Amino acid sequence: MNKKTIRDIDPKGKRVFVRVDFNVPLKGGRITDDTRIRAALPTVRDLLDMGASLILASHLGRPKGKVNPELSLAPVAKRLEELLGRPVKILGDCLGPEVEAAVAAMKPGDVALLENLRFHAEEEKGDEGFAKQLAGLADIYVNDAFGAAHRAHASTTVIASFLPAVAGLLVEKEVQVLSLLLESPERPYVAILGGVKGKIGVLDNLMKKVDALIIGGGQAYTFLKAKGLDIGKSVFDEDAFEAAKGVIAEAAGGKPRLLLPTDVIVTTELKEDAPRKAVSVEDIPAEWMGADIGPRTQHQFADALKGSKTVFWNGPMGVFEIAPLAEGTRAVAQAVADCGAYSVIGGGDVVAAIEQLGFGDSMGHVCTGGGASLEFLEGKELPGIAALQDR
Ligand code: 3PG
Repeated sequence: MNKKTIRDIDPKGKRVFVRVDFNVPLKGGRITDDTRIRAALPTVRDLLDMGASLILASHLGRPKGKVNPELSLAPVAKRLEELLGRPVKILGDCLGPEVEAAVAAMKPGDVALLENLRFHAEEEKGDEGFAKQLAGLADIYVNDAFGAAHRAHASTTVIASFLPAVAGLLVEKEVQVLSLLLESPERPYVAILGGVKGKIGVLDNLMKKVDALIIGGGQAYTFLKAKGLDIGKSVFDEDAFEAAKGVIAEAAGGKPRLLLPTDVIVTTELKEDAPRKAVSVEDIPAEWMGADIGPRTQHQFADALKGSKTVFWNGPMGVFEIAPLAEGTRAVAQAVADCGAYSVIGGGDVVAAIEQLGFGDSMGHVCTGGGASLEFLEGKELPGIAALQDR
């Protein structure tokens, strides 16, 4: 990476503003996956060891510029305190006189976490005045929020013009791993795309790089429809329809190899006790929806992964949150773990799925940014990284 990192600064006795991505899943006020908090620890620990005091800042969820107590970062401060083994003070806001007073009283080794940046609409607008106020709290800016690096927000990008601005160790590591996928993946290189959120943007670039492209999960139904099949009530992405047709046409010559499900598990409702059955993709009933890949597809996908040397995986194969619909994701996770390839798991839902199914330690690199990793692999410059000082 051609950007300065925390190794290029001397933060001793300085106040360092560290933008982290603590946007973690919460259920009833409890953190259900703390991967992103743990991922920030190397930077936090190194800066503390170097004698800095730390002002940590993050967004949580999408409160749309309004205070929402359910999206307070207080539970995150508590979890960070446990992991770090030292006090982490949660502040009542991210700016204002009280925050300024608390920050002014900080000593080397102290750690404070600002309240959710997105309680202020100015954050997502990239407001300069807001960014300047945040910058006024500190002497140095560190961006370690890889998961939010594709957002040109006040605390991820604009603030970098007011302070010496360098990357944290997580950002450095993520960029290293994803650059390897872009520039020199060991072959065969297989990409697996699933989940529901739009991923069509990355396909152009991936098609040029991979030896095989596996499409499952919610993504697959748009492709099945593009092949002329009836998909019943399965999820369909109108915006991706033409692009899906293009990918199918491009892969018709066999390069890269394109694998779509040949059978799926259909259900009438996304509920644990709803009726479900495995059907061929040609036989999806009109009133049913696909909710996981079927057993034949599990084997076909696992076969395609055998012998691969590099795997990139973004998006689960089915609605894994509902136990009987997690089998496809489990089978693919097992196949990725067994194939011996260097595997990069691309953030978001699939990270939660892999942790939930117990495969976290079997993967080469678990990326903390879903959207950010896709945009990086699309070949886009991430504004949060572009804004940092060049080496
Ligand atoms: C994420 O979860 O992908 C990042 O934290 C960014 O969140 P956002 O999509 O709400 O900007």
